[in-house]
Amino acid sequence: MDEEILDNLEPQKEPKEETTTIKRNILGLSVLVVASIVIAFYYLGQNANRNLVGAPPVRDFVENRPTIPDNLSEQFREGRALFLEQCAACHNIGMEADMTGPALRGVTQRRDQEWLLNYIRNSMQMVEDKDSTAVALFEQWDESIMVAFPNLSDEDIRSILVFIENR
Ligand code: HEC
Repeated sequence: MDEEILDNLEPQKEPKEETTTIKRNILGLSVLVVASIVIAFYYLGQNANRNLVGAPPVRDFVENRPTIPDNLSEQFREGRALFLEQCAACHNIGMEADMTGPALRGVTQRRDQEWLLNYIRNSMQMVEDKDSTAVALFEQWDESIMVAFPNLSDEDIRSILVFIENR
C-alpha cells in the first residue's frame, strides 16, 4: 500500500522540477538583461562628455589637473566651454600637441595679452596688416587659415586664455 502511494507520487515530482528550472532560467535571463542595461548606460555616460574631435572626456582632465585658484575657477569654466565650442576643432585640448593649429601650451608667455586679444579675434587681419609674428605663423603653418571670432568679447578671450594657462 505504501509503495503504491509512493509510485503514484513519483510522476508528480517531474512537473515540479520543470517549474523550478523555468524559474531559474527566467531569473538568469533577467539578471543578464539588467546587467546589459547597466553596461549600456555606463558607456553612454562615459561618452556623453566626449567632444567631437576625440578629446578625452571633459571629466578626466578636470579630475586630473591640479586645482586652480578659486578666483579663476569661474573664468576657467567659461574658458573651457568656449574653447571646446570654438577652438578645439583645430587646437588640441591637451595643449601639448599640434593639430590643424599649433599647440597652445605657453602661448600666454610667448605673446602679450593685447596681441592675443587682437590675434584671436581676427588673425588674418593681422596678417594683412603685416604684423611680423602673425605673418611668420601664417607661413609656418603652411598658410592654413584660422577663422576669425568677431563675436568673442575681450572677456571671453581672457577666459579662454585663463583656461589655456591653467589647463
Ligand atoms: C579652423 C582652425 C582653427 C580654429 C577653429 C582656431 N584656430 Fe587658432 N590657429 C589655427 C592655425 C592654423 C594657426 C596657425 C597660424 C595660421 O596658419 O593662421 C592658429 C594659431 C593660433 C594662435 C597663435 C599661436 C602662437 O604660437 O602664437 C593662437 C593664440 C590661437 N590660434 C588661438 C586660437 C583660439 C583661442 C581659438 C578659439 C577661439 C582658435 N585659435 C581657433 C587654426 C585655428
